[in-house]
Amino acid sequence: MASPHDPRAAALDSFIARHPGILAGGGPAAVFRALPGAYLDALPPRPVHYYQTDKPGADALARLGLEVRTDEPASPASLCLVFATKHKEEVLHHYARAAALLDEGGSLIVSAANDLGAPSLERRCAELMGGVETYSKHKCRVFLARKDPAKLDRGLLETWLQGGDWHGIADTGLMSRPGLFSWKALDLGSRLLARHLPDDLAGRGADLGAGYGYLSREILARPRQIAELHLFESEHKALDAARRNLEGHPAAQFHWADVTLGLPVSRLDFVVTNPPFHTGRAALSALGRAFVRAGLAALKPGGRLFLVANRHLPYEPEIEALGARAATLAEAEGFKVILALKH
Ligand SMILES: C[S@@+](CC[C@H](N)C(=O)[O-])C[C@H]1O[C@@H](n2cnc3c(N)ncnc32)[C@H](O)[C@@H]1O
Repeated sequence: MASPHDPRAAALDSFIARHPGILAGGGPAAVFRALPGAYLDALPPRPVHYYQTDKPGADALARLGLEVRTDEPASPASLCLVFATKHKEEVLHHYARAAALLDEGGSLIVSAANDLGAPSLERRCAELMGGVETYSKHKCRVFLARKDPAKLDRGLLETWLQGGDWHGIADTGLMSRPGLFSWKALDLGSRLLARHLPDDLAGRGADLGAGYGYLSREILARPRQIAELHLFESEHKALDAARRNLEGHPAAQFHWADVTLGLPVSRLDFVVTNPPFHTGRAALSALGRAFVRAGLAALKPGGRLFLVANRHLPYEPEIEALGARAATLAEAEGFKVILALKH
């Protein structure tokens, strides 16, 4: 998720201030993982495909009056902007998609944060495009390449294009894609939680931050009386994967939503979650605590919330402060499974 003053957008803005007119031109443009920023004012009136699959990010752009899309850009463009995410394979895929769509002489401009691997992402972009010009600011790198078909590495382009495709997770039958949490292998914490879910789950439930649907599939696969299972997930690509992975399960309902804003369901019998957390000091478990609040608020009295978390994250005080009782069901491999019982 991007913050309101994302340094990648700030770096791009200051790059543009140094190169006025760099985004001008009437041809179509595409922005991969689009973010709010002053650069948006330099884009209109050309047609622009704003691609953002993160719900809070998409909502921030929609509030600016932009039409945000969750389908990857697929039409020719004379300008492509890529905001690099923490998912390297996804970024390479976006480079390749952009390089494929660009007209000859068209510009690819990338903004990447240093702590998300900007130096290496810059090298990879140069390999693909045959060279880049670089500008550094706000702990980010902005690099620019013009499409020259003679310099383009077509082998890399094909490999990275295919790299964004669906990917089976070994021995699970689950499908995933780059850009999703734990996309290559099941998360250890989620597996621990699945092992400690009781056999008597029944009625109406929710999976908060459902990802590609692993926990939900575990719940729906066992012989239980599940009437409704609501999957809430902010990453549209993950929800697409979950839809695919839970095909044929009529109890599953899919919500592209920011859980921290609260849930549109109530009086649930159970909630399961492996909430997102930031490893950075400041944010610590704030996002996860918001998940706990949303989950407990949606339960009926006597309802149960099952949560897995890194052992050091302090969710129990939040649970108790909200008037529920917290109990540890299991601890292993650096994780703990907590049951919160709503009074
Ligand atoms: C730790 S992962 C768990 C994924 C999945 N349940 C699993 O077990 O593999 C947390 C998930 O929460 C999603 N997420 C992050 N912030 C969110 C938010 N504000 N609202 C809804 N989902 C969010 C992430 O995209 C990610 O898929």
